[in-house]
Amino acid sequence: MSLGGKHIILGVTGGIAAYKSAELVRLLKKSGAEVQVLMTSDAARFITPLTLGTLSEREILSEIFPENESGSWTKHVNLGLWADLFVIAPATAQTIAKLAHGMSDSMLTATALAARCPLLVCPAMDHDMFIHPATQRNLEILESYGYRIMAPEHGELASGLIGHGRLPDPASIVSRISRELAGVEKNGPLAGRTVLVTAGPTREPIDPVRFISNHSSGRMGFAVAEVAADRGAKTILVTGPTRLETPKGIERIDVTTAGEMFAAVDQHRNADIVVMTAAVADYTPAEPADHKLKKSEEQVHLRLKRTTDILQELGKSRRSGQVLVGFALETRDGLANARVKLKSKNLDLIVLNNPLDEGAAFGHETNRVTLLYRNGTEEALGKMSKLDVGRVILQRVETMMVAEATPSE
Ligand SMILES: Cc1cc2nc3c(=O)[nH]c(=O)nc-3n(C[C@H](O)[C@H](O)[C@H](O)COP(=O)(O)O)c2cc1C
Repeated sequence: MSLGGKHIILGVTGGIAAYKSAELVRLLKKSGAEVQVLMTSDAARFITPLTLGTLSEREILSEIFPENESGSWTKHVNLGLWADLFVIAPATAQTIAKLAHGMSDSMLTATALAARCPLLVCPAMDHDMFIHPATQRNLEILESYGYRIMAPEHGELASGLIGHGRLPDPASIVSRISRELAGVEKNGPLAGRTVLVTAGPTREPIDPVRFISNHSSGRMGFAVAEVAADRGAKTILVTGPTRLETPKGIERIDVTTAGEMFAAVDQHRNADIVVMTAAVADYTPAEPADHKLKKSEEQVHLRLKRTTDILQELGKSRRSGQVLVGFALETRDGLANARVKLKSKNLDLIVLNNPLDEGAAFGHETNRVTLLYRNGTEEALGKMSKLDVGRVILQRVETMMVAEATPSE
């Protein structure tokens, strides 16, 4: 692959994997790129500026106020304009935290803040540092700024422990850089994963012209699907009748009844992540009429029968590693009911909402939800857009998947 003429800034921070940055510089140069290395002062404890300077054929920059230089105070701004891409590999927990909070105390962090080019961050650290909520939250913040994150690999770490946190090998980083520059990278933390989302109401026919349904607009599920596709997942959206347009990059399957929804979901039940937002009818007319019912008696009795409980069915036979998320729509005793549903349906996460709450009504762009996790923790989110709710749900699911991959001691 050729990176001929491309300007790459390589930020190197103080992690044990800094030794790999020498090979990274060599490969980038070999593919034709010009490479400017910026090192934190702690990175120099792990690899010498002499090595990286020699390989990159450029002076290594580290401090914002170099002792032996004058008149270069805008260097970080100019470098930010010069670069086609800024990659930080390895990125320590410390530097990730600084970037998340806009700190600019070194040439590396100041240039990152000033840069107009895409930033690719390659975290590398001990497994527990990586899965710590602080680091995960900081990575989420970086993502919200549009930074690209290259997930660390699972394997043996410098500490001798096995876990997530290993810097991918330099050749993989170079290939990711070229895909980013070519604009073809289906980036995002869910790249390579399949996400199945259900949305909208179902319609249960009484006769050929009448049905039983509910007020679900489908917006919440469409928002989750849009976020999943944005985060790189292959996304399948099974939806009941709605007027919503299909977001980009999503495979949409339209269904009408609860029975049809179950059949469609069943076909894709092996997805890595399943998020069931649909308001599926619990009951359907036992004998829908073949012809339109005529007005006759003062009162008519409609006999209803139970539909298949889709969430329950999925919870009963889940493939290992799958994350199953349900929604609970409750108008009273919400928390108590959601806790029961979380357990009885064998879910990892249940999202509780009440359409009677301000900002959470059917058809609205916003929602107000509480997340209840399998481990008993609960997280009440304030009023936010349905897209933001979708984002938080998938970020939490991604963290769960990393933690799940941790071998138990
Ligand atoms: C031997 C050793 C190895 C370390 N490896 C890592 C690492 O892989 N990842 C990390 O985030 N921090 C690691 N640290 C901690 C960082 O070096 C420390 O947080 C440092 O202040 C990072 O600064 P910087 O981000 O400005 O380079 C290590 C520390 C030591 C002493």
